[in-house]
Amino acid sequence: MVMRPPLVNVMARAAEKAARGLKKDFGEVEHLQISRKGPADFVSTADLQAQKILREELSKARPDFGFLMEEKDNAPDTSGKGERWIVDPLDGTTNFLHGLPHWAISIAAEREGELIAGLIYNPISDEMFWAEKGIGAYCSNQRLRVSARGDFADCLIATGMPFKGSSKPVAPFIAELQAIMPHVAGVRRAGSAALDLAYVAAGRYDGYWESGLGPWDIAAGILLVKEAGGFVAPLIAKQDPLKSGCLIASNTAVHDKFVAALRGAKVG
Ligand code: IPD
Ligand code: CA
Ligand code: CA
Repeated sequence: MVMRPPLVNVMARAAEKAARGLKKDFGEVEHLQISRKGPADFVSTADLQAQKILREELSKARPDFGFLMEEKDNAPDTSGKGERWIVDPLDGTTNFLHGLPHWAISIAAEREGELIAGLIYNPISDEMFWAEKGIGAYCSNQRLRVSARGDFADCLIATGMPFKGSSKPVAPFIAELQAIMPHVAGVRRAGSAALDLAYVAAGRYDGYWESGLGPWDIAAGILLVKEAGGFVAPLIAKQDPLKSGCLIASNTAVHDKFVAALRGAKVG
């Protein structure tokens, strides 16, 4: 049985505590259509409450770490610190709002620009994906490996598509989809970038690409894929995937083909 490293234990305990409130709120979300406040308000309250718990728990355990968090709150900005947590308290908000049990808490630890640990927790399936640099990627106690599928035709690929209010332009996404869709077994848009990456690490998806993401969406997932033996590349050559928020993640066998197809996709 694998021993969870101390940093991962800190993240796991914080995620489990924040998950309690989120699970309770998720149970109520379907009845909210009739409440005075709209469901979106309810979800943003749930989101902020989870973020508050994560901030408290992580700070207690590692008082010197700064935070880069998705939601704006009243805490001082500590995101410039050399050691910091990168946190999305609820990834998959639209799923949550619609009662779909596919959302997660995502926490990464970064030291001097290098990801050193990551954890993605889906409280509904109770799957906890975690990785520490040099130690490997795991789901609970089970070691994760990316898939070995080398034939594009057999591959199941995940993506995220633009939606109202998102920063990603539609036309390049359609061009990318056209470059991939006819050649693979299927394309999925499940609605949580963190879980998309965790599933690549687990070998459930063979690859995943998306643009316009925040570091909180992908920091933990990038480490998971790498520690599971996969590759992560920027959608545009030479950019940093974490900073640009545009990335391609896959197993090693299809990586070159997948990257070439996506980078070669032309609008029009
Ligand atoms: C979103 C999800 C989604 C991705 C969006 C993200 P949120 O995060 O990860 O899969 O396509 O770009 O913003 O808003 O649910 O935390
Ligand atoms: Ca997110
Ligand atoms: Ca979020």
